[in-house]
Parts: sequence; C-alpha cells; structure tokens
Amino acid sequence: MAISLKDLLARNAEWSANARTRDPAFFSRLVSQQNPEFMWIGCSDSRVPANEIIGLAPGEVFVHRNVANVVVHTDLNCLSALQYAVDVLKVRHVLIVGHYGCGGVTAAMRDMRLGLVDNWLRHVQDVRDKYRQRLMAQADLDLRADRLCELNVVEQVLNVSETTVLRDAWARGQEVSVNGWMYSLADGLVRELGAEVGRESEAKDVYEASVQAVLQKI
Ligand code: CO
Repeated sequence: MAISLKDLLARNAEWSANARTRDPAFFSRLVSQQNPEFMWIGCSDSRVPANEIIGLAPGEVFVHRNVANVVVHTDLNCLSALQYAVDVLKVRHVLIVGHYGCGGVTAAMRDMRLGLVDNWLRHVQDVRDKYRQRLMAQADLDLRADRLCELNVVEQVLNVSETTVLRDAWARGQEVSVNGWMYSLADGLVRELGAEVGRESEAKDVYEASVQAVLQKI
C-alpha cells in the first residue's frame, strides 16, 4: 500500500509525541545545540540510514551522504560539511561508510550509462582503473563489486585525510580519526576495513595496507 504525504505527517506527529514521552526535555535540549562526536559520510541509498544503523539519536551524528560515498577535493558541499564537523563541532571520528551491493559502485564497475550521475561515478571508475588488473582477476562480478566497494571506501579515507580540514586539525593537535567502514545490507552489520588514520603522517601507510588487505581477498 502506498504511503501518502499525509501519512508521513501523521507518523511525524506520533514520533514527536513518543520522543517527548520518553524524555520531556528531548527537543528543548536539541534546540540550543548539537554535540555530535561522529561525522558519517555514506551513500544516499535509502537502505543505509546513518542514525538507525549505529543506534544514535538526533544530535549525535553529523551526516553527509551522496551517491557511492565519494569525497572529492573540489566538492564544496562535502568539504563544507566536513569543515563544519571538524572545526566547529569538533567531532572525534569521521566515518566513511560504504555498503555492499552499492548500485553506484556496480554501475561504475560495469560502465553502465545512467545519465548525469555517470560523471560523478567517474571518480569510482578512477579507483577501479587504478586496480583494474587485480580486480579483473575476480571473475565473479558480485564479489568483484564487493572489492571495488571496499577499495572505494579506502580511497575516500585517504581523500578525507588529505583535505586541508584534517591536515589543519591534526597540525593544531586536535584528536580526530578517519575510519573506513563497510555496511552489509544482508545482515545489517558494519565491518571495519582496518583503515583508520589518526594523523597526517600515517595516511599513506594506512592506505597501502588497507588496499593490500582488500586485494588479498581476490
Ligand atoms: Co550505494
């Protein structure tokens, strides 16, 4: 049965009432400030809702999502969100969260033509082309896509680590880490990719080790 906009408003009213029943001060607290310790950079896919997956309430995770969770050095939208999260909100962890079965990554891998989004997915194809030979050794296309999903996250961990935002934060001694995660639609679980960067000097080594860990699965 189709859900109408009216239904959504009714659900919202119910949600708001429930939240206030559980905690009468819930909304008045959030009005004055947000104090998230985490930033989530994930895919726009409707099956990968940030707050729900990690069990956090409003105010606890700062979220940026785009198709295939890509961080590009010229994307002012993503960079602005990252800068605000790190400089102003002082998040302690930036999580890059990819997911298996990502339609964007699969489209990029298979050179599918979907329209304008192809240009965005070109960034994922750059990752694919970087490791093309190793990836092609995986004959099973689903498994090959899984590996590209993982490599894409590892690449974005490096990209985030190399932004002026993170480099400046680390230079002034701010404690903030960049982590690569993979979410599985099949069981709802997050797996760590072992890609965790806590200072500028370790970014390249973490990147190389994480790439090798992914390629060893092939
Ligand atoms: Co996706």
